[in-house]
Amino acid sequence: MKRILNLPFIAILLVLFLALPALAGHHGKEKPVKKGILLVAFGSSMPEAQIAFDTIESRVKQAFPDVPVHWAYTSSIIRKKLAAQGRNLDSVEMALARMMDQEFTDVAVQSLHTIRGEEYDDLERTVVAFAHLPGGFDRLVLGAPLLSTQADMEKVCRAVLENIPKERGKKDAVVLMGHGSPHPSNAFYAAMMFHLQRQDPLVFVGTVEGAPGIEDIVAMLKQRNVKKAWLVPFMSVAGDHARNDMAGDEDDSWKSILTKEKIVAVPVLKGTAEYDNMVSVWVDHLKDAMKHLE
Ligand code: CO
Repeated sequence: MKRILNLPFIAILLVLFLALPALAGHHGKEKPVKKGILLVAFGSSMPEAQIAFDTIESRVKQAFPDVPVHWAYTSSIIRKKLAAQGRNLDSVEMALARMMDQEFTDVAVQSLHTIRGEEYDDLERTVVAFAHLPGGFDRLVLGAPLLSTQADMEKVCRAVLENIPKERGKKDAVVLMGHGSPHPSNAFYAAMMFHLQRQDPLVFVGTVEGAPGIEDIVAMLKQRNVKKAWLVPFMSVAGDHARNDMAGDEDDSWKSILTKEKIVAVPVLKGTAEYDNMVSVWVDHLKDAMKHLE
């Protein structure tokens, strides 16, 4: 018998647990409680990206010094690339199966995604499926991604403004590059721009694969007569999109597009997960999730 609780207003967590967690083992044997954390990211094959993941891991270990931390990357392309270099990263399914096998009883899965998009939805479905496996975990909880609530958005906007390079001039624009998605949660990017611009009218948020696109942002920059723009990734890691689509030399990179419009583009190659104030938002979501393992 399993009970499924959805707590959207408290912590936006999905909490699944057995009715009798203390007696969940087979044949009446009690399993000793073994807590674990699984951090889930899209992944990156760039060595520079590792800084972002190391920052998150050290913050998580600081918050939960006695709980083992495991990792899973959702991108099979990235996992294959890393495997070719001798680094074996698990998928979510592999990581959870391994943790089941290692007799973890209480596991918090923390999404390191930015929005509740398609990847988060997939993760949620996987977690729900694992929560229903016989002989599996007693409790399996899922922590929310970076932008889940209005409060998250306000915290993240504050962090974005704090993290703007000090060298930025008063008339310089700051253009964030989000990933973007056909998912309804894509609306968070435009919502962020609205909130950011109430405090700093020259901060813009565009996306690579959703709306607003770079053409929308260029139109806004021209309207405000912007001559110089700082390009800042709004993705956990300054990986392929940041290095190529944002800061690359190809004709269709954001840097090239702005340059063509006579706007000086200054790329900043740092992912959100490299900033302590951003990581705090994910860690707070993990803390909320961990509360459900008590
Ligand atoms: Co992409």
